[in-house]
Amino acid sequence: MKRICVLPGDGIGPEVIESAVSILKSATDKLEFVFADIGQVAHSKTGSYLPGDTLQLMRSCDSSLFGAVTSAEDPDYDPPVLRFRKELDLYANLRPVKTLVHVPNRAPIDVVIVRENSEGMYTQNEVFDDVGVTTLRRVTRKGSERIVEFAIQYALANGRGKITCVHKSNVLRASDGLFVNTFRELMRTKGKGLHASEQLVDSAAMKLITDPAAFDVIVTLNLYGDILSDVAAGVAGGLGFAPSGNIGPKHSVFEPAHGSAPDISGKGVANPTAAVLAGAMMLRHIGLSGPAERIERAVSGFYSSGHLTVDMGGRHGSKSFTEHILRNLSAQQRR
Ligand code: NAI
Ligand code: MG
Repeated sequence: MKRICVLPGDGIGPEVIESAVSILKSATDKLEFVFADIGQVAHSKTGSYLPGDTLQLMRSCDSSLFGAVTSAEDPDYDPPVLRFRKELDLYANLRPVKTLVHVPNRAPIDVVIVRENSEGMYTQNEVFDDVGVTTLRRVTRKGSERIVEFAIQYALANGRGKITCVHKSNVLRASDGLFVNTFRELMRTKGKGLHASEQLVDSAAMKLITDPAAFDVIVTLNLYGDILSDVAAGVAGGLGFAPSGNIGPKHSVFEPAHGSAPDISGKGVANPTAAVLAGAMMLRHIGLSGPAERIERAVSGFYSSGHLTVDMGGRHGSKSFTEHILRNLSAQQRR
């Protein structure tokens, strides 16, 4: 048995996680679920957005499945997502985006963004002075090496032939320069058989929209990866389609790339696809690739047979989507 820590969180987090957990339960009997609080819901009970008990449980489980949190206005707010990424050393953020529904006038996309998840603009080192604020942006050799190595291993293990390093070294010559140089070096020594390319982040953003087939695996710094993965999700139809995994040497947390979507929360219309696919990524990561494949087949089958969720202009809300996937999974088991 594998133990999974489930963190539903705020807004649509609990809605999409409920769907994902019921689908995971139906796909395999090898999982045991334990639930924990995070975000506003945790704060209202304990005064902390990421209680020590939650973090402890995440550490003790084989993996975690997380929904989303709503950020607080509170000036002392310590974002729980950044905290668990740091505490659990989840240095790689894996974000695959693949077209499941044809969107008119948009080319199909199938990219995997490997985002550095531990440094860059996300160390929250901001200092006020008389005239403004200085934000320290940290890029280290070790951080760059381990994320590029992760991207290389991922590409080799998943039959992906090309890695594009996305950066802004024409302006951030020293820091992004270090990142690109590390990429060049490691592609030479460890990326045998893989095609290496480089692209500046601004033109990469445009190209993801106009010519997404130009990309296969992208390896990039933290902020660029955050933004580009939402651009890529938009090309595929929206944030309801983008799963992600936060991965470190010992721990992992899987989550939809979207936030708590307060604008649609409680309406039953959130698209659980990203959360469900994040669950499938988690299964693969902990060695359960059979049920992961069955879930992915059920999800792509839902869309390829013409069904559409509400965010895509269709009529299937969270519940109806989930029922379809559950029916497909039982049909696969009967075959
Ligand atoms: P968001 O991802 O929550 O929503 C952006 C847009 O996409 C909204 O129009 C929303 O309705 C739509 N959307 C997102 N997920 C969807 C789904 N599954 N199905 C259908 N439509 C979906 O980003 P936003 O609005 O910028 O942030 C809202 C809150 O979420 C903020 O408090 C933000 O800080 C937080 N957030 C949390 C994240 C996390 O917990 N990992 C990540 C990103 C944002
Ligand atoms: Mg984001």
